[in-house]
Amino acid sequence: MKETTAIAHPNFALVKYWGKKEGNQNRPAMSSISITVDSMKSKTTIHKNASNNMHRLFIDGKEESDLSRVIPPIEYLSSISKSDDYLIIRSENNFPTSSGLASSASGIASLVTAYEAHYEIDLKMCEKVQASMLGSGSSPRSLMGGFVLMNHNDKYKCTQILQKSDWPLEILICIASSERKKISSRDGMEISKRTSPVYRDWLNINHKHVSGALKSIKERNIVNLQKITEENCKLMHKVMETSKPSIKYMTNVTEQCITEIENLRASGHRLFYTIDAGPQIKIICSPESSQIIKKTIEDNTDILKIIHTKIGGPPRVINED
Ligand code: DP6
Repeated sequence: MKETTAIAHPNFALVKYWGKKEGNQNRPAMSSISITVDSMKSKTTIHKNASNNMHRLFIDGKEESDLSRVIPPIEYLSSISKSDDYLIIRSENNFPTSSGLASSASGIASLVTAYEAHYEIDLKMCEKVQASMLGSGSSPRSLMGGFVLMNHNDKYKCTQILQKSDWPLEILICIASSERKKISSRDGMEISKRTSPVYRDWLNINHKHVSGALKSIKERNIVNLQKITEENCKLMHKVMETSKPSIKYMTNVTEQCITEIENLRASGHRLFYTIDAGPQIKIICSPESSQIIKKTIEDNTDILKIIHTKIGGPPRVINED
């Protein structure tokens, strides 16, 4: 039986998305900028379900009962492929799932990539963006490598700002916990949008953060990019924490890392951090400082593990047999 496998990498936002537009198309209420990461990956294999009329999803070998992230992209893609196949989807992550490491972004991007190849439909980029976004609002950014802008004012057009080789920064992903998050991003965003008194400020600052980050990336200015990225991250976590009920993804291990990062910066190293909907902290740094940063975090915090990686590339199909 024909099956197709594709790989996609997660992405971490430097200017983040937290909050959706009204309607049921899962559209972010703001623009975002991300880096795609190397080493970490979602590998997704699809084939037709020849046994019964249902889609089935397995993540890391376990069958999932919640198909709400995969059915909207599949329905959109099948309107293009004109196929009414039901699919068996097997997705594997080489990193903890649903713990703030963007597994849904890479999982959906690899599914869309596998689907396109499986049905030979040669999608336009805007169609891939649309299909991915229906599964996860941050997923379209994983359709490209390097530094990526997703512009909500231009139909969510995704553009590559720099390729990974244009500015070869390194990334240290510090795993504070591999537990699944208690509140999904999807639920958390809805709560924040309805209840946080700073949600409006968060929407209003987006344009300033996007244009500042774009300029800093094009100029390869790590000091300016650090200021914007960390300000954006702190404000998003303030939106979360001022929500009712308050949402807190950071733990004291995350805080320990922030202290070490600030100390390292004070002693002249070039690095900055970002934190998503989980306790993990992602450090972006210049290559000459990465080893000392890794050792300092390992020695002085209770971090479980550090994944040392680089900026990654776009998704790819790895077999079409
Ligand atoms: C904090 O893309 O996971 O990582 O659209 O509901 O799937 P859904 O949410 P998701 O949210 C990402 C939130 C974030 C910030 C970001 O990646 O921009």
